[in-house]
Amino acid sequence: MRSPAPALVARFQRRLLAWYARHGRDLPWRRTRVPYRVLVSEIMLQQTQVERVLPKYREFLRRWPTLRRLATASADEVRRAWYPLGYNVRPVRLHAIARESVARYHGRLPDTADGLRALPGVGRYTAGALLSFAFGRDAAVLDTNVRRVLTRVFLGPRRTARLRGDRALWALAERLVPRGRAYDFNQALMDFGATWCTPRRPRCSPCPMRSFCASSPRPAATRARG
Ligand code: ADE
Repeated sequence: MRSPAPALVARFQRRLLAWYARHGRDLPWRRTRVPYRVLVSEIMLQQTQVERVLPKYREFLRRWPTLRRLATASADEVRRAWYPLGYNVRPVRLHAIARESVARYHGRLPDTADGLRALPGVGRYTAGALLSFAFGRDAAVLDTNVRRVLTRVFLGPRRTARLRGDRALWALAERLVPRGRAYDFNQALMDFGATWCTPRRPRCSPCPMRSFCASSPRPAATRARG
């Protein structure tokens, strides 16, 4: 996959941020920069819809407001409190992260990609989310929604099959992050994928990316000019 031209990157960044300013969701984990709170939200949001996460996120943080407090609980208590979110390995990992943070980092989360990825169950996505949402770094994120948006906009329908591996998409996601704006940009990508560029019925007709989207229903000849 060729890297998109700088003008296209800039246009995508500008339009996505403008879209987010109008359509972004007001979610409780966007009102905090506390790393632990961001971590809880990101782990809950793996495989689970925002609407289902909202009440549990609040309840969980009322009960265990810090990593230290979570570390004093038993893994079984945390697992029971997770119900009915499903995927029971997630609370157990979150609890293990709390214990490890207390044992190794004075009850804080590490603020580097390597440090984060050494924690139980933290992969490239969660590390990128924490770096950009909690630590103000220009890190990229790539989850199911972001993958779909980037594939559609930059690769188009027939190029999807070539993208089995994620390397090219991660490289694209990294290239797209505007310097100093990773927080809003990444939150915007997630909302755009979840509410606009949806799997089955994307809102193409009012879409701000339509003029240059590689999957836009318009003829290719008009697309190039953007
Ligand atoms: N899914 C994963 N992370 C998210 C976030 N920060 N906001 C909305 N949906 C998400």
